[in-house]
Amino acid sequence: MKQANRERGCVLWFTGLSGSGKTTIAQEVENELLGAGVPVEILDGDVVRENLSKGLGFSKEDRDINIRRIAFVAHLLQRNGVFVITAAISPYRRVRHEARAMIKDFVEIYADAPLEVCEERDVKGLYAKARAGEIKGFTGIDDPYEAPEAPEITCHTDTETVQESAKKVMDRLIELKYIEA
Ligand code: ADX
Repeated sequence: MKQANRERGCVLWFTGLSGSGKTTIAQEVENELLGAGVPVEILDGDVVRENLSKGLGFSKEDRDINIRRIAFVAHLLQRNGVFVITAAISPYRRVRHEARAMIKDFVEIYADAPLEVCEERDVKGLYAKARAGEIKGFTGIDDPYEAPEAPEITCHTDTETVQESAKKVMDRLIELKYIEA
């Protein structure tokens, strides 16, 4: 496998609830792309919020600013041939569309797991806190999540293995001619 055109990167835009598996699949896809010699960067929600978006909260306005920053940096890298993987909840459809319109080489990946499953996993213990009212405005509990209407890829992370989900992504990248088999 190799990059089809070294000048042409793309943005693999993961979206999904907290705990839906975005970061886990992103890391697996990163490994596969690196193995194929493709330049890759991950812009992970939690990492971005510690750095680029430090100080932002979780109001709609702050989330939109966060997503626009991620889209801006992703675009700079993508247009220099990098495969950029973003993994933020990005709950609002409108700003995801905005990112797509700006970036164009944009592949939306929906990490689709039912809320009950994400809540059951509760990797960071935040769903329990949200249910207890200790965190207000938590996505999926008392804040909206707008699922994508036509994502390029949907990963059903409650029924697929990480490897199966990552393979779906890689196969689609070949179909879309970002990668040569
Ligand atoms: S986004 O909405 O702006 O895309 P982002 O992916 O950066 O969100 O950050 C989400 C992460 O922040 C969650 O995985 C969780 O660890 C943490 N978090 C803290 N408060 C909230 C909240 N109110 N809603 C969602 N996630 C929160």
